[in-house]
Amino acid sequence: MSLPSTGRVGVVLGGFMGVGKSTVGRRLASVLGLPFIDADLQLAARHGPIADQIAGVGERTFRAREAALLLGLCDGVPRVIATGGGAFAQPHLREALRAAGFLVTLSAPLPVLRRRVGDGVGRPLWDVGVAALLARRRPHYADVDLVVDADRPEPAVVDDITRWLTAARDVPVPASSGAYTVAIRSDLRGLGAAVRRATGASAVAVVTESRVAPLWLEPARRALAADGVAAPAPIVLPAGEEHKTVEVWRACLDALIARGVSRDVPVVALGGGVLGDVAGFAAATALRGLPLVQVPTTLLAMVDSSVGGKVAVDHPSGKNLIGAFHQPALVWAPLSTLDTLPAREVRAGLAEVVKVALLFDADLYEALERLPADRLPAAGALADLIARAVALKAAVVSDDEREAGPRALLNLGHTVGHAVEAAAGFGQVLHGEAVAIGLVAEARVAAELGFGPADLPARVEALLRRLGLPTRSPLLASDAAARAVSLDKKRRGAMLTWPVALAVGRSALRAVPVDLFFRTLANLR
Ligand SMILES: NC(=O)c1ccc[n+]([C@@H]2O[C@H](COP(=O)([O-])OP(=O)(O)OC[C@H]3O[C@@H](n4cnc5c(N)ncnc54)[C@H](O)[C@@H]3O)[C@@H](O)[C@H]2O)c1
Repeated sequence: MSLPSTGRVGVVLGGFMGVGKSTVGRRLASVLGLPFIDADLQLAARHGPIADQIAGVGERTFRAREAALLLGLCDGVPRVIATGGGAFAQPHLREALRAAGFLVTLSAPLPVLRRRVGDGVGRPLWDVGVAALLARRRPHYADVDLVVDADRPEPAVVDDITRWLTAARDVPVPASSGAYTVAIRSDLRGLGAAVRRATGASAVAVVTESRVAPLWLEPARRALAADGVAAPAPIVLPAGEEHKTVEVWRACLDALIARGVSRDVPVVALGGGVLGDVAGFAAATALRGLPLVQVPTTLLAMVDSSVGGKVAVDHPSGKNLIGAFHQPALVWAPLSTLDTLPAREVRAGLAEVVKVALLFDADLYEALERLPADRLPAAGALADLIARAVALKAAVVSDDEREAGPRALLNLGHTVGHAVEAAAGFGQVLHGEAVAIGLVAEARVAAELGFGPADLPARVEALLRRLGLPTRSPLLASDAAARAVSLDKKRRGAMLTWPVALAVGRSALRAVPVDLFFRTLANLR
């Protein structure tokens, strides 16, 4: 399977005159090893000083020249471009420039700009009422990927942008019910602007859970507010798989309705897979469907549960038995939230990455085999890992939004995984741990039944162990596990539609009698 592209290529700097776009741009380009283009310098070289152009041909003609130059740079060639102060203030041009790279606004308070510009001689439009001009442009300057505080020494500004870029990946997810982007970012900055762009909303209902709230609720609200998105009265649900219930979903609906949300207010689901599933199901059902923004805060939710639109709660008889398909308008994955995630949860997230690699991508699988055993890779490599896993899942789910065909492959390891979770009691074994156990057990059953290669189970088990995941469980032979398999959604009568890894990176669906599957599983030693 080929990977969709996961990144924009360059950086386009904007912001008010005097903020330092040219000097920061030149240094940034040199750090990134990219060519640098200063749009104002090029325009001046072609047509004379900018102030003279505006005084001579008028601002309108100058803007047309500027737009023509900048649009010519939207050609996919990686560069750093410093624009003039008015470029980002033109919505169409700003939108087109997204094709040239990430949009970054440099921002500084007016007194700082005044100090830097001095009397403004040679600065066009400086004397036309600079405070009013800045106020008019401010909302435009905020509608970008990143706003950086430029009231600092230049190296600090450049360092901030480079760190942010290291983790920035956009993975497009095409879906017939509306395409969306999975934005992988170093932190929460830019969330509000992205929510506005994806939903058009300037107020949201944040839904989070009790463990995430003390850590990330205020930073998330600040990031929304910085871009002019209000998040009044957040809803905090109880944390943990044991609370992924009809009762908690109902409580979430009550809270949304009590807050008087209207159909255009997006639910921002801030948390791991459990919260994303419950809040997502509430978004799918409240007022027959509210827009949904997933802000996953666990690795598992970033690589898997936030993408694809499946939202659900558990039933005492089995996991995810009550739910819906409801695609998000945006997924925003802030890597900084992983800093507070317990190591065991991080490892559990890696199990789902192993799963998609085993299903579709031998290169990614080998990259996982080369990972350091005891820690997550640094930001850039981690962002790549997440982006590749998401792109693989996206390629499958966008062809099959309602799980009629190939999407069922993503259940690799889950027939047994869900049975292990059910037998242990929900919440006792982490979902990713259960999937790890399931991947190994299912590879062994597949080998026993002649569907999969004999040497695959050992290779899968070795990788999962290296990543610190459990690979065996005595629960597999229990009655509770058998009952859970028999309730499995993939079951059709006496047959199970079962995903099988035919080799690393290659997989197919097979129909297997449920009895045979379970007898083989129970006989594994
Ligand atoms: N919808 C789908 O397509 C899909 C796919 C895979 C899994 N899932 C579901 O996802 C769930 C598992 O998700 P999960 O592993 O993210 O579990 P989770 O949401 O329970 O999060 C794991 C733990 O980490 C805590 N936590 C979350 N973010 C944190 C952070 N940044 N810092 C500190 N603690 C944090 C949570 O409170 C919880 O204790 C399961 O219910 C599973 O069924 C859904």
